[in-house]
Amino acid sequence: MLQPAQVYNLYLCANFTFMLNFEYYNPVNLVFGRGQIAKISKLIPEGAKVLMAYGGGSIFKNGIYEQVSTALEGHEVTEFKGIEPNPRYETLMKAVEIVREKNIDFILAVGGGSVIDGVKFISAAVKFEGDTKEILHKRLRIEENTVPFGTVLTLPATGSEMNSGSVVTIEETQEKLPFGGPALFPQFSICDPTVVASLPTRQVQNGVIDAFTHVMEQYLTYPHDAILQDRIAEGILQTLVEIGPKVAKDPSNYEMAANLMWSCTMALNGLIQKGVPTDWATHMIGHELTALYEIDHARTLAIVGPNLYRVMFDSKKDKLAQYGQRVWNINADTIEQGALEAIEKTVQFFHTMGMDTKLSNYTPEYEKTADFIVKRFEERGWKALGEKQNITPEKVRDIVELSY
Ligand code: NZQ
Ligand code: ZN
Repeated sequence: MLQPAQVYNLYLCANFTFMLNFEYYNPVNLVFGRGQIAKISKLIPEGAKVLMAYGGGSIFKNGIYEQVSTALEGHEVTEFKGIEPNPRYETLMKAVEIVREKNIDFILAVGGGSVIDGVKFISAAVKFEGDTKEILHKRLRIEENTVPFGTVLTLPATGSEMNSGSVVTIEETQEKLPFGGPALFPQFSICDPTVVASLPTRQVQNGVIDAFTHVMEQYLTYPHDAILQDRIAEGILQTLVEIGPKVAKDPSNYEMAANLMWSCTMALNGLIQKGVPTDWATHMIGHELTALYEIDHARTLAIVGPNLYRVMFDSKKDKLAQYGQRVWNINADTIEQGALEAIEKTVQFFHTMGMDTKLSNYTPEYEKTADFIVKRFEERGWKALGEKQNITPEKVRDIVELSY
């Protein structure tokens, strides 16, 4: 449910260009750099009973498990293994039961966005009275009654280590749904760029494109007077363009990995969205592609994003032209030409980063997708997405069909 202030902000967003009122609250203690995992011992409250949650086992192959276990010596630790990519409600509820049974009072997420998001759900669900699916279906704003948690980030991409959002999939109904709230910031997040060295190329590529699209969702709207937010956003985009291919080629290059990690965090820690209109429709459509076909999150964004810019061209062309000029050094004669070239540059960059940008490259069943997504959005009442609330179900259909 939107608060009156949010409705007012939406009204302002759709009609004005000056910087919107905002509060910036971000209590995460971000601990960045080589060798920082050892600090866990001081960051977790003394005497806390800890649940250490992780994914499918990559942490056993790259030495992260040993580092975390050593740092946790002296704490009573229960392990929870198996939080899958695109974390499943059904799996997370098993962890919720363990936390309740054992009276665990601190959770440590060791993994990428999926493990961290999963731990956010566990944290919110343990003390939740009622059907925990409501957290997702009603997109509840979680303000209290959470179990405190920290994170050890192993994959730079989502920014989940420094924000209070999460996305969880209900396997039974193939729904991938976001939720969050101010009680879901990690208490601390350890970001040691040496973890990047063991990432498969595909995951590095995903990280770059996810972060790139996070910036675009908060930047590529329409011109406004928040000058600093634009410049920071453009700085993150330029950095990702510069370093993305280098990290994919050599993830063991610490300097490049460190810049990727910080760029990904900065892309979605709330800073660049303050005072500006935001879109997020690429993500909402992309989540459906993952729910339907299990396509990696970032790859859904590479499929949808450029086509959303094409369909919403009239709404976005001014900002597209600014982006083209400042990020890609495009010197066009007209706004339209600059904007079109900017979209093409974006697609080329996605290809450079190993993305397929057509849905038909991922599934033979693509032709039913637009009907499915439009029906779902209508059932959910999502009839007006985007920064001007002008992405209607018809526009969603156009975007998805253009993505085939
Ligand atoms: O499970 P393990 O064995 O650990 O393997 C993982 C997984 O298979 C592997 N991996 C992670 N760190 C590694 C590693 N392999 C080798 N070396 C390492 N250091 O990578 C695979 C993918 O991991 P995952 O956590 O799924 O990737 P990512 O960080 O891209 O997270 C994607 C999830 O985050 C959500 C997405 O929707 C998706 O569910 N998002 C969360 C957001 C947020 N909370 O703010 C925003 C994003 O827009 C996004 O929606
Ligand atoms: Zn994303």
